[in-house]
Order: sequence, then structure tokens, then C-alpha cells
Amino acid sequence: MFHQLRVAEVCPLTDDSVTISFEVPDELRAAYWYAPGQHITIRRQVGGVEIRRTYSLCDPVPADPIPGASATGSASGPRPAPASGPVPGASRGPARLRVGVRLVEDGAFSTYALKELLAGDVLDVMTPAGRFVLEPRPGRFAAVVGGSGITPVLAQIGTVLAREPAAGFCLIRSDRTAASTMFLEEVADLKDRWPDRFQLVSALSREDRRSGLPSGRLDADRLVTLLPALLPVSAVDAWFLCGPLGLVGAAEHALNALGVPRSRVHQEIFHVDEVPAGPAAAGPTSGGGTVRVTLDGRGGSWPSAGGESVLETVLRNRSDAPYACKGGVCGTCRAKLVSGEVRMDRNFALEPEETEAGYVLACQSHPVTPVVEVDFDA
Ligand code: FES
Repeated sequence: MFHQLRVAEVCPLTDDSVTISFEVPDELRAAYWYAPGQHITIRRQVGGVEIRRTYSLCDPVPADPIPGASATGSASGPRPAPASGPVPGASRGPARLRVGVRLVEDGAFSTYALKELLAGDVLDVMTPAGRFVLEPRPGRFAAVVGGSGITPVLAQIGTVLAREPAAGFCLIRSDRTAASTMFLEEVADLKDRWPDRFQLVSALSREDRRSGLPSGRLDADRLVTLLPALLPVSAVDAWFLCGPLGLVGAAEHALNALGVPRSRVHQEIFHVDEVPAGPAAAGPTSGGGTVRVTLDGRGGSWPSAGGESVLETVLRNRSDAPYACKGGVCGTCRAKLVSGEVRMDRNFALEPEETEAGYVLACQSHPVTPVVEVDFDA
């Protein structure tokens, strides 16, 4: 669900990135409760066209308990994260939300955010969502991140180390240069605050430095050698991979080669190229089928036009259908396939357990059977 939120601050982070802070009015705080690692979607009209972008929340989940309040998400808030539920004591929700935005070449929203957006402006912001979540719990955790992929992991580290004294975190980050590294100081502060429980390893692909790893890209071969030298790989309870597709794919490959079970690896991809339009993206049915939907407790049944995705069919009839990237990356359009069969063009958002449980990305799903039924509430 979208609400209008006022921009409290736009702060430069590097030459090509900023943080945007939003004020959350008291009456909406419960709706904007988030789990560490979740994101928000921002909606804006540009030249008469609606654009949506997802950005991860970077601050630790605030400890802001209301005496006697139960730690459950709001009915109008995010769909629940998959793990153990909201952080105890955080049920009131944040008074501010902060995201990091890096300038993308020709990026319709990032250009606006860096060059025009000012404190006091108002934007449409969706309640937090996403399953790239680390609930505070005892254990050893690690992340491999690249570029702006640090953003959700920053929230995870800050939350888990503050709330769970028996947790440790190893962060391996890859950036181009020190000057282009987002949240450089905030990560250094975490290191100062928890020197024993937070291990930081930085790799710069285009710059040599006195400390840290030698320059160069972190590819799969390098990670296979590097990771066991940094930490006991098999003792890590959960891995979080976030950043460009190339780095996340390399880290996943390396962890697989090192024998890490896939169930311990969580990933979130940033920056995936657009899917070319045309026959390759078209579905195997030529239209005439039916898409049945449950969305926010209401049902609907509509004809699908040839080649369109399940999300497109739904959006023609229900403008409140959830989506952001339409590219198979953010997972906002996740729905459960109740009956029928679909073919997904691509999936960078759902974990294998989710697809095995019948979840699909509506934006990437094309009906294969004449009738397809999906449930966005499941
Ligand atoms: S809208 Fe982002 S994965 Fe479908």
C-alpha cells in the first residue's frame, strides 16, 4: 500500500549517491515497521508515465517498544518476512525511513533524486516488503556485497549486532574505489563499535590501498580461495549476497563449490539489464485464457490477452496489484500459484524453497494452461 511521505532530508553520500530520509507520521508508523534487509518502493510520475523503484532501508530497525504492544506486523504493513517475525520491541515502527540511492545512467528516479529532490517534497512510498531478511538471533553470519548492495546488509548488521550479543558478522564488500564506496563511515563505525563481533574485508576493483585486499574484481575463483582464509565457511549460519548480478552469481558459485547448502544462502540482485521485448518474452498461450486472482481478500477472474504476463492481466483490472521492477528482481509481485501452470521468463527474487512451494513472480509468469489461478495474499 502506498502513502504519501514527506522527505525529511537528502544527504550526499558519495559523488554519485545520496541518502533520502522520509518522515513517518505517528499514525503510519506501524504500517512502516520493517525487518532488517527489507526495501520500500517509491512511485513517481515522469512525463505522464508512472515509474516505480525499490530501495533498501539502511538503518537498523529501531528499538521503540510500546509497553504491552504485541510484536506483530500491521494489517496494512508488509507481507510478513519468512523467518521468525518482527523484531521484538519494534512493533511501533520507525519515525524515519532512510534509503541509499546511487545514480544510474539515464535513471529516471535516481537522476531526480540526486539533482532535484529536496527536503519537504512529498513522494508516494509503499510499505516495506522483501524477504532478504536477517532476524536477530545468535549465530555467525556473513555477507558478500557489491556497490549499493551494502544498503540492506547495513541494516542487518546494525540490527543483529545491537540486539543479539551472541551474533557475529563478517562483511566482504567490493567497490570500485574508496571515494565511490557508499556508507564508508557508517560501516567503519560498526567496526569501532563491535571490533570483536564484526569482521570487515574490503576489496577495491580499481584502486590499490595499503590495507584490505589487493585490487581487482571478486570473481568466483578468487572467492573460493579467499572465503576459507577469512572465516570457517561451514560454520556460517546464513550468507547474504547482494549487489550486481555478476558478483552475486560469482559468490553463489563459490559457496556452492565450497559445499555450503543452498538453504543457507540468501541473495538479492541489483542492476539487472532489461529483458528485451518481443517473442522471447511472450507466453506460450495465444490469449483467450482466464486468470483468476485473490488480492487483498477480493477475488477476480479476467481474460488474458496473448503474450501478456499474469501481472499485466491483473493490472488491467485491478490497479492495486503489487509490483515495482516488472523485471523479476524485486519480488514485490510474488503470488502463490493455486491452480494451472505458468512459465516464468526469469526469476532473480524467489528462493528455491519458494518456487518449490508454488510461489511465482506475476510479472514474469505467462499462462501455460487455459485457466491460471494465483493468490497474492498467500
Ligand atoms: S515486480 Fe519486481 S519481481 Fe515482479
